[in-house]
Amino acid sequence: MELIDGKATAKTIKAEIAAEVEQMVKDGHKRPHLAAILVGHDGGSETYVASKVKACEECGFQSTLIRFEDTVTEQELLDAVHKLNDDTDVDGFIVQLPLPSHIDEQKIIEAVDPEKDVDGFHPVNVGKLSIGLPGFVSATPAGIVELLRRYNIPTRGKHCVVIGRSNIVGKPMAMLMLRKGQPGDCTVTVCHSGTGNLKEITRTADILVAALGKPGFVTADMVKPGATVIDVGTTRVPDATKKSGFRLSGDVDFENVAPLCEFITPVPGGVGPMTIASLMMNTIQAARKRKR
Ligand code: GUN
Repeated sequence: MELIDGKATAKTIKAEIAAEVEQMVKDGHKRPHLAAILVGHDGGSETYVASKVKACEECGFQSTLIRFEDTVTEQELLDAVHKLNDDTDVDGFIVQLPLPSHIDEQKIIEAVDPEKDVDGFHPVNVGKLSIGLPGFVSATPAGIVELLRRYNIPTRGKHCVVIGRSNIVGKPMAMLMLRKGQPGDCTVTVCHSGTGNLKEITRTADILVAALGKPGFVTADMVKPGATVIDVGTTRVPDATKKSGFRLSGDVDFENVAPLCEFITPVPGGVGPMTIASLMMNTIQAARKRKR
């Protein structure tokens, strides 16, 4: 069993980006600039956005955080999105999800200029991914694919089973593994809450991606010996021994599943840091295109 070290890989990627940024600046271009809109004070969202701002510093990017209270109106948020679309200094931006229930999330996503949509959530970017055109790809699945690439994990002809069908992870993950090339060329199955014979299917997976948000859901009897298991879960579970009062729990029963695996990602330190690194990769990709 080999542990896939997402934390170390993310650090390497951020260092590669920082070197490219210094070269860009030396060549007379401006620093890449990522902006984030954060609504309200959800603990998880605050942590994610703080990590994104810190990663920008590590990469030598400029970053801007725009905050709204959760009483913000949909129109105010749309106005903020339009302003960022028009701001020529901003290469890319994200609107941290989830948004309060009185705001139509899809409407906000569709207001973002696809050229600045470094989250890869706009239907134009989702569509491009599905037909194999270059565009922005959602950061979590893009980060997973980067791990498979950097660990030289063979994918061609393999059966990749994805548990979870979210727009942010499950669906784009399936599209990426279906693409031609390495990583890619997989036979892909997407399982979800309506799947009847889940265990039968997961036991045939060479690459199993668990992205359903249920701590410890994937147990040893669901995994084929020699499989590669990717754990996307980051559920906060109460833990009195932690200063924060919680710990992050993955979707995989790591203790019992890990000994069976060829490769496995831990939680924390697996997919999480790679999601942030991918967002940085998307941002420098946006900056390269807008280079001036
Ligand atoms: N909420 C959970 N994951 C994400 C993400 O990747 N991007 C944004 N904007 N919000 C999220």
